Amino acid sequence: MPDTPPNFHAPASDVERSRLNVDRGAVPAPPPVLAAAALSKGYRSGDRRIEVLRGVDLTVAAGESVSIRGESGSGKSTLLHLFAGLDSPDTGMLAWEGRPALPPEHRAAFLGLVFQSFYLIPELDALGNVLMASRILHPPGGAERERAQELLQRVGLAERGHHLPAQLSGGERQRAAIARALINRPRLLLADEPTGNLDEKTGDSVIELLLGLCAETQTALVLVTHNAAHAAKTGRQLFLHNGVLG
Ligand SMILES: Nc1ncnc2c1ncn2[C@@H]1O[C@H](COP(=O)(O)OP(=O)(O)OP(=O)(O)O)[C@@H](O)[C@H]1O
Ligand SMILES: [Mg+2]
Repeated sequence: MPDTPPNFHAPASDVERSRLNVDRGAVPAPPPVLAAAALSKGYRSGDRRIEVLRGVDLTVAAGESVSIRGESGSGKSTLLHLFAGLDSPDTGMLAWEGRPALPPEHRAAFLGLVFQSFYLIPELDALGNVLMASRILHPPGGAERERAQELLQRVGLAERGHHLPAQLSGGERQRAAIARALINRPRLLLADEPTGNLDEKTGDSVIELLLGLCAETQTALVLVTHNAAHAAKTGRQLFLHNGVLG
Protein backbone atom coordinates (compact mmCIF):
# COMPACT_ATOMS: atom_id res chain seq x y z
CA MET A 1 0.00 0.00 0.00
CA PRO A 2 1.40 3.48 -0.81
CA ASP A 3 2.52 5.77 2.02
CA THR A 4 0.66 8.84 0.81
CA PRO A 5 -3.11 9.05 1.17
CA PRO A 6 -5.14 9.20 -2.02
CA ASN A 7 -6.37 12.74 -2.43
CA PHE A 8 -9.99 11.75 -2.86
CA HIS A 9 -11.60 15.04 -1.96
CA ALA A 10 -9.19 17.58 -3.43
CA PRO A 11 -10.65 19.55 -6.30
CA ALA A 12 -9.13 18.36 -9.53
CA SER A 13 -9.47 21.48 -11.66
CA ASP A 14 -10.11 25.22 -11.52
CA VAL A 15 -13.68 24.59 -12.61
CA GLU A 16 -14.18 22.20 -9.73
CA ARG A 17 -12.42 24.56 -7.32
CA SER A 18 -14.79 27.30 -8.26
CA ARG A 19 -17.81 25.00 -8.10
CA LEU A 20 -16.81 23.95 -4.59
CA ASN A 21 -16.27 27.60 -3.54
CA VAL A 22 -12.77 26.66 -2.43
CA ASP A 23 -11.31 30.03 -3.44
CA ARG A 24 -14.07 31.97 -1.73
CA GLY A 25 -13.21 30.69 1.70
CA ALA A 26 -15.92 28.03 1.94
CA VAL A 27 -15.17 25.15 4.31
CA PRO A 28 -13.97 22.21 2.19
CA ALA A 29 -16.07 19.05 2.31
CA PRO A 30 -14.83 16.54 4.89
CA PRO A 31 -13.16 13.42 3.48
CA PRO A 32 -15.42 10.41 3.04
CA VAL A 33 -15.56 7.95 5.90
CA LEU A 34 -14.32 5.25 3.55
CA ALA A 35 -12.75 5.61 0.13
CA ALA A 36 -11.53 2.72 -1.98
CA ALA A 37 -10.07 2.97 -5.46
CA ALA A 38 -9.12 0.22 -7.90
CA LEU A 39 -8.83 -2.48 -5.23
CA SER A 40 -7.67 -5.85 -6.44
CA LYS A 41 -7.15 -9.01 -4.43
CA GLY A 42 -6.41 -12.59 -5.40
CA TYR A 43 -5.51 -15.83 -3.68
CA ARG A 44 -3.16 -18.62 -4.65
CA SER A 45 -4.95 -21.94 -5.02
CA GLY A 46 -2.47 -24.76 -5.66
CA ASP A 47 -0.52 -23.78 -8.75
CA ARG A 48 -3.04 -21.24 -9.96
CA ARG A 49 -4.32 -17.89 -8.75
CA ILE A 50 -7.91 -16.82 -8.19
CA GLU A 51 -8.52 -13.13 -8.87
CA VAL A 52 -11.38 -12.27 -6.50
CA LEU A 53 -11.48 -8.46 -6.66
CA ARG A 54 -10.55 -6.82 -9.97
CA GLY A 55 -10.83 -3.08 -9.45
CA VAL A 56 -13.31 -2.13 -6.76
CA ASP A 57 -14.14 1.56 -6.31
CA LEU A 58 -16.32 2.80 -3.47
CA THR A 59 -16.79 6.03 -1.53
CA VAL A 60 -18.95 6.09 1.57
CA ALA A 61 -19.93 9.43 3.10
CA ALA A 62 -20.58 10.06 6.80
CA GLY A 63 -23.88 8.57 7.89
CA GLU A 64 -24.51 6.90 4.53
CA SER A 65 -25.81 3.32 4.29
CA VAL A 66 -24.69 1.07 1.43
CA SER A 67 -25.57 -2.56 0.79
CA ILE A 68 -23.49 -5.06 -1.14
CA ARG A 69 -25.00 -8.19 -2.61
CA GLY A 70 -23.39 -10.83 -4.76
CA GLU A 71 -23.19 -14.57 -5.33
CA SER A 72 -21.56 -16.79 -2.76
CA GLY A 73 -17.82 -16.69 -3.40
CA SER A 74 -17.97 -13.38 -5.28
CA GLY A 75 -15.64 -11.75 -2.73
CA LYS A 76 -17.96 -9.81 -0.38
CA SER A 77 -16.23 -10.94 2.82
CA THR A 78 -12.82 -10.46 1.20
CA LEU A 79 -13.83 -6.89 0.41
CA LEU A 80 -15.13 -6.17 3.93
CA HIS A 81 -11.83 -7.44 5.35
CA LEU A 82 -10.04 -4.85 3.21
CA PHE A 83 -12.48 -2.14 4.32
CA ALA A 84 -11.79 -3.16 7.95
CA GLY A 85 -8.03 -2.94 7.41
CA LEU A 86 -7.74 -6.58 8.46
CA ASP A 87 -6.13 -7.51 5.14
CA SER A 88 -4.35 -5.53 2.43
CA PRO A 89 -5.27 -5.27 -1.24
CA ASP A 90 -2.78 -6.50 -3.84
CA THR A 91 -3.17 -3.17 -5.63
CA GLY A 92 -5.36 -0.10 -5.18
CA MET A 93 -5.84 2.48 -2.47
CA LEU A 94 -7.89 2.79 0.68
CA ALA A 95 -8.48 5.75 2.96
CA TRP A 96 -10.43 6.02 6.19
CA GLU A 97 -11.53 9.63 6.73
CA GLY A 98 -8.60 10.58 4.50
CA ARG A 99 -6.06 8.48 6.41
CA PRO A 100 -4.15 5.83 4.48
CA ALA A 101 -3.98 3.39 7.39
CA LEU A 102 -6.13 2.18 10.28
CA PRO A 103 -3.80 1.45 13.20
CA PRO A 104 -5.28 -0.79 15.95
CA GLU A 105 -5.65 2.04 18.48
CA HIS A 106 -7.62 4.08 15.95
CA ARG A 107 -9.61 1.15 14.60
CA ALA A 108 -11.36 0.52 17.93
CA ALA A 109 -12.84 4.04 17.97
CA PHE A 110 -13.45 4.37 14.24
CA LEU A 111 -14.85 1.02 13.24
CA GLY A 112 -17.55 -1.38 14.41
CA LEU A 113 -17.88 -4.90 13.04
CA VAL A 114 -20.87 -7.26 13.02
CA PHE A 115 -20.56 -10.80 11.69
CA GLN A 116 -22.94 -13.61 10.81
CA SER A 117 -21.62 -15.75 13.69
CA PHE A 118 -21.87 -13.02 16.37
CA TYR A 119 -18.41 -13.81 17.88
CA LEU A 120 -19.42 -12.95 21.44
CA ILE A 121 -17.00 -14.02 24.17
CA PRO A 122 -18.76 -17.05 25.74
CA GLU A 123 -17.41 -16.44 29.27
CA LEU A 124 -18.70 -12.84 29.43
CA ASP A 125 -22.33 -11.82 29.88
CA ALA A 126 -24.02 -9.47 27.39
CA LEU A 127 -22.97 -6.37 29.35
CA GLY A 128 -19.40 -7.67 29.62
CA ASN A 129 -19.26 -8.28 25.88
CA VAL A 130 -20.44 -4.75 25.12
CA LEU A 131 -17.96 -3.25 27.63
CA MET A 132 -15.12 -5.36 26.24
CA ALA A 133 -15.15 -3.23 23.09
CA SER A 134 -14.76 -0.02 25.10
CA ARG A 135 -12.03 -1.64 27.23
CA ILE A 136 -9.84 -1.69 24.11
CA LEU A 137 -9.72 2.12 24.30
CA HIS A 138 -9.43 2.51 28.10
CA PRO A 139 -10.72 0.86 31.31
CA PRO A 140 -14.49 1.42 31.27
CA GLY A 141 -15.80 3.85 33.88
CA GLY A 142 -19.27 4.96 34.92
CA ALA A 143 -19.97 6.74 31.62
CA GLU A 144 -19.14 3.63 29.57
CA ARG A 145 -21.27 1.42 31.83
CA GLU A 146 -24.15 3.82 31.47
CA ARG A 147 -23.79 3.88 27.68
CA ALA A 148 -23.54 0.08 27.55
CA GLN A 149 -26.75 -0.23 29.61
CA GLU A 150 -28.45 2.34 27.40
CA LEU A 151 -27.42 0.48 24.24
CA LEU A 152 -28.59 -2.83 25.67
CA GLN A 153 -31.91 -1.17 26.39
CA ARG A 154 -32.06 0.22 22.82
CA VAL A 155 -31.53 -3.26 21.38
CA GLY A 156 -34.17 -4.72 23.70
CA LEU A 157 -31.81 -6.49 26.08
CA ALA A 158 -32.22 -4.35 29.21
CA GLU A 159 -33.22 -7.46 31.17
CA ARG A 160 -30.55 -9.68 29.60
CA GLY A 161 -27.36 -7.82 30.54
CA HIS A 162 -26.24 -10.58 32.88
CA HIS A 163 -27.05 -13.45 30.53
CA LEU A 164 -24.14 -15.35 29.02
CA PRO A 165 -24.25 -15.75 25.20
CA ALA A 166 -25.32 -19.39 25.68
CA GLN A 167 -28.35 -18.08 27.61
CA LEU A 168 -29.39 -15.79 24.72
CA SER A 169 -31.31 -16.60 21.55
CA GLY A 170 -29.64 -16.07 18.16
CA GLY A 171 -31.42 -12.76 17.62
CA GLU A 172 -30.52 -11.62 21.14
CA ARG A 173 -26.87 -12.53 20.54
CA GLN A 174 -26.80 -10.50 17.35
CA ARG A 175 -28.45 -7.56 19.10
CA ALA A 176 -25.76 -7.76 21.81
CA ALA A 177 -23.15 -7.81 19.04
CA ILE A 178 -24.71 -4.68 17.50
CA ALA A 179 -24.59 -2.92 20.88
CA ARG A 180 -20.94 -3.97 21.18
CA ALA A 181 -20.18 -2.62 17.69
CA LEU A 182 -21.69 0.77 18.56
CA ILE A 183 -20.32 1.29 22.09
CA ASN A 184 -17.37 3.41 20.92
CA ARG A 185 -19.54 5.57 18.63
CA PRO A 186 -17.77 4.41 15.47
CA ARG A 187 -17.82 6.41 12.25
CA LEU A 188 -18.20 3.26 10.17
CA LEU A 189 -19.97 -0.01 10.79
CA LEU A 190 -19.23 -3.01 8.58
CA ALA A 191 -21.76 -5.85 8.76
CA ASP A 192 -21.16 -9.17 6.99
CA GLU A 193 -24.45 -11.08 6.59
CA PRO A 194 -25.63 -10.09 10.09
CA THR A 195 -28.92 -11.94 9.62
CA GLY A 196 -27.42 -15.04 8.01
CA ASN A 197 -28.02 -17.19 11.09
CA LEU A 198 -31.41 -15.77 12.01
CA ASP A 199 -34.97 -16.67 11.04
CA GLU A 200 -36.76 -14.25 8.72
CA LYS A 201 -38.73 -12.33 11.33
CA THR A 202 -35.79 -11.98 13.73
CA GLY A 203 -33.54 -10.99 10.81
CA ASP A 204 -35.97 -8.27 9.75
CA SER A 205 -36.04 -6.80 13.26
CA VAL A 206 -32.24 -6.92 13.55
CA ILE A 207 -31.89 -5.02 10.25
CA GLU A 208 -34.44 -2.39 11.33
CA LEU A 209 -32.48 -1.94 14.53
CA LEU A 210 -29.13 -1.75 12.77
CA LEU A 211 -30.33 0.81 10.21
CA GLY A 212 -32.20 2.82 12.84
CA LEU A 213 -29.25 3.01 15.25
CA CYS A 214 -26.80 3.91 12.46
CA ALA A 215 -29.11 6.66 11.19
CA GLU A 216 -29.57 8.05 14.73
CA THR A 217 -25.84 8.17 15.40
CA GLN A 218 -24.80 9.19 11.84
CA THR A 219 -22.72 6.02 11.60
CA ALA A 220 -21.92 5.03 8.02
CA LEU A 221 -22.96 1.44 7.31
CA VAL A 222 -21.73 -1.06 4.73
CA LEU A 223 -24.10 -4.02 4.85
CA VAL A 224 -23.26 -7.27 3.06
CA THR A 225 -26.41 -9.31 2.62
CA HIS A 226 -28.06 -11.93 0.44
CA ASN A 227 -31.47 -10.50 1.35
CA ALA A 228 -32.91 -8.19 -1.34
CA ALA A 229 -35.49 -6.67 1.02
CA HIS A 230 -32.80 -5.77 3.55
CA ALA A 231 -30.58 -4.33 0.80
CA ALA A 232 -33.48 -2.20 -0.43
CA LYS A 233 -33.63 -0.44 2.94
CA THR A 234 -30.12 1.03 2.55
CA GLY A 235 -29.48 4.36 0.84
CA ARG A 236 -27.44 2.80 -1.97
CA GLN A 237 -27.56 -0.75 -3.34
CA LEU A 238 -24.51 -2.29 -5.00
CA PHE A 239 -23.64 -5.69 -6.45
CA LEU A 240 -20.27 -7.41 -6.50
CA HIS A 241 -19.96 -9.29 -9.77
CA ASN A 242 -16.85 -10.51 -11.58
CA GLY A 243 -14.71 -8.74 -9.00
CA VAL A 244 -16.23 -5.33 -9.64
CA LEU A 245 -18.74 -3.33 -7.61
CA GLY A 246 -21.57 -1.81 -9.57
N1 LIG B 1 -7.76 -16.96 2.70
C1 LIG B 1 -8.14 -17.42 1.50
N2 LIG B 1 -7.33 -18.23 0.75
C2 LIG B 1 -7.70 -18.68 -0.45
N3 LIG B 1 -8.89 -18.38 -1.05
C3 LIG B 1 -9.74 -17.61 -0.35
C4 LIG B 1 -9.42 -17.09 0.95
N4 LIG B 1 -10.47 -16.35 1.39
C5 LIG B 1 -11.40 -16.39 0.41
N5 LIG B 1 -10.96 -17.15 -0.64
C6 LIG B 1 -11.68 -17.41 -1.87
O1 LIG B 1 -12.06 -16.13 -2.40
C7 LIG B 1 -13.37 -16.19 -2.94
C8 LIG B 1 -14.25 -15.14 -2.29
O2 LIG B 1 -14.49 -15.51 -0.94
P1 LIG B 1 -15.41 -14.63 0.01
O3 LIG B 1 -15.43 -15.31 1.34
O4 LIG B 1 -14.93 -13.24 -0.02
O5 LIG B 1 -16.82 -14.74 -0.73
P2 LIG B 1 -18.25 -14.19 -0.27
O6 LIG B 1 -18.77 -13.36 -1.39
O7 LIG B 1 -18.15 -13.56 1.06
O8 LIG B 1 -19.11 -15.52 -0.19
P3 LIG B 1 -20.35 -15.91 0.79
O9 LIG B 1 -21.56 -15.18 0.26
O10 LIG B 1 -20.48 -17.37 0.63
O11 LIG B 1 -19.98 -15.50 2.18
C9 LIG B 1 -13.85 -17.62 -2.78
O12 LIG B 1 -13.63 -18.31 -3.98
C10 LIG B 1 -12.98 -18.15 -1.67
O13 LIG B 1 -12.78 -19.54 -1.81
MG1 LIG C 1 -18.94 -14.00 2.94
